[in-house]
Amino acid sequence: MTLKLLCVASECAPFVKTGGLADVVGALGPVLDAHDVQSRVLLPLYRQIAHLASGATEVMNAGSLFGGPVRVMATSENDTDLLLIDAPHLYDRPGQIYLNESGQDWADNHLRFGLLSWLGAEIGRNGVTGWTPDVIHAHDWQAGLTPVYLRQTDSTVPCVLTIHNIAFQGNFPATTMGNLALDPHGFTQDGFEYFGQISFLKGGLMQADKITTVSPTYARELMTSEFGMGLEGVLAARHSDLSGILNGIDLRVWNPETDPALAQTYTSRTLNKKRANKQAVLDRFGLDAATDAPLFSVISRLSEQKGLDLALHALPALLDKGARFVLLGSGAPELEQAYVALAARYPDQVGVQIGFDEDLAHLIQAGADATLIPSRFEPCGLTQLCAMRYGTLPIVSVTGGLADTVIDANEAALAAGCATGFQFAPTTAAKLGDALERAMTIYSDAKLWQKIQRNAMKHPVGWDVSALRMAEIYRDMAKA
Ligand code: ADP
Ligand code: GLC
Repeated sequence: MTLKLLCVASECAPFVKTGGLADVVGALGPVLDAHDVQSRVLLPLYRQIAHLASGATEVMNAGSLFGGPVRVMATSENDTDLLLIDAPHLYDRPGQIYLNESGQDWADNHLRFGLLSWLGAEIGRNGVTGWTPDVIHAHDWQAGLTPVYLRQTDSTVPCVLTIHNIAFQGNFPATTMGNLALDPHGFTQDGFEYFGQISFLKGGLMQADKITTVSPTYARELMTSEFGMGLEGVLAARHSDLSGILNGIDLRVWNPETDPALAQTYTSRTLNKKRANKQAVLDRFGLDAATDAPLFSVISRLSEQKGLDLALHALPALLDKGARFVLLGSGAPELEQAYVALAARYPDQVGVQIGFDEDLAHLIQAGADATLIPSRFEPCGLTQLCAMRYGTLPIVSVTGGLADTVIDANEAALAAGCATGFQFAPTTAAKLGDALERAMTIYSDAKLWQKIQRNAMKHPVGWDVSALRMAEIYRDMAKA
C-alpha cells in the first residue's frame, strides 16, 4: 500500500540550498517513489523561491500564526511535490535563508523555524486539503520541534528525525517559549530544556519515534563527548532508536555522461575526455596549464568543521612541486581572506572563487584530479561522493561518512585493486600533507591513477540501498 510521507525541512535542492541538507531532501522524494512512498516536502516560501508560488494552489489557510497570516500552497516542480509555507512576515525578506544582510542569524529564527515545525505537526494531525500523511520525516533542528508539537497534543502520527549536523542545535532563550506556543511542562530535562534554554534539536531527539543520522560512523560518533556536542548523553540514551543510514547523491544531477555544466561529458571508458574539463577549469581561473601537474580542488562551506585551515598549511609544499589548486567556497571571513592571499602568492597555480556557484561546482568536480575534504567531523559529506562519480579522487580525513565511503589507497587496497581515494588520520596538517604526497606519487603513475579513478566511478554513490532502508523505517513506524 502506498505510504504517504511528509518531509519537513528548511532547504530542498534545486530550489533553495546552503549545503548537503538540501541535496538530500531534494533527492530522497523521487527515489522513494520506487518503494511506494509518496512524499511531499513542507518548505518555507522564502523570497528566493517566491516564483514557485505562481501556479500553486492554496491547501490550507492557517489564519494568523506566530505574528502574521499563514497559508500553505501546493505545487509540483522538478519531480518534487512541495507544500510551501506562505508567511510573508517571516520569509519574504532579503538576505540569506538563515542570515540577514549583515551575516547575522535572523533575530526571529526561532519563530521562522518554529512555524515550520508547528505546521509539520499540524499537517500530520489534520492534513491539508485532500491529503493526510501516514508518517513525518523531520530534518535537523529547523524541524526539531515537529515531534514536540505532535506529542503536545497527544497525536500518535509517527515521526522520524534525521540529524544532518549536530553542530546546529537551534538553542534559544527560555523566554521565547510563549511565542512558540510550547507547553511549559515540556521545559524539563526530559523535554526541550537544555542548560536553561529551549533546544529545538534536543526536544526533537527526546520526542521522535526514531532517529537517523547520515552515516553509520557518525551514528557511533554522536554518542561520544568528542562529537556529540553536548547531546551525546541524549543519543546514548536513545541508541536503540538511532540508525546511521548513508546519504546518496542525486544521480540525475551528478552524471558525467550528461552533465550540461561540463565542457566535455565523459564516462569511465572515455576518461581521456575528462582532460577538457581540467583545461576549462584552468582557463576559468587563469592558471598555467602544465600537462603533467595534478589539479587539486576544494568545494566547500568555509567553516571550522571542514578543516580547511589545515589545508592552508599543507598546500604550499604541494604547490612548490608544481601542483595546481582551485577553491570554490564561502564562509568564515578569515578563511576567505587566507585563500585569496594564497592565490595572490601563487598566481599561476592557485585559483580562488569566493561564493556559491552550482555550475562551477560541477565543472570543478569534472576537471580536478583530486579533491580535499580534511573535515574535523563530517556527518556524511556529499562532495566526496560527487567526486568519485566524476573520477576525481577524494583525499579525506577518517571521520563520519568520509570513513564510510572512501577506500584508502594503502598497500592492501592497491594489491586488491579496490582503492577509491586517500584517507588520513588524525586530522592534522602534517597527516594531510602526507596524504597529499601519496596522491602526488600515485598521480605520476598514470595507469595506477586511472585504475583508482575507475574504481571510484564504479563505487555505488546513489540512493538505492539507503532509500530502501528509509522506506523500511517509515513502514515499521506506520505499523507500530
Ligand atoms: P555540508 O552540507 O556540510 O556543507 P556536504 O558535503 O554534505 O557538506 O554538501 C555540500 C553540498 O554543497 C555539495 O552539494 C557541494 O557541491 C555544495 N557546495 C558547497 N559549497 C559550494 C559552493 N561554494 N558552490 C556550489 N556548491 C557548493
Ligand atoms: C550536513 C553535514 C554533511 C551532510 C549533509 C547532508 O550539512 O555537514 O556531512 O552530508 O548534512 O546530510
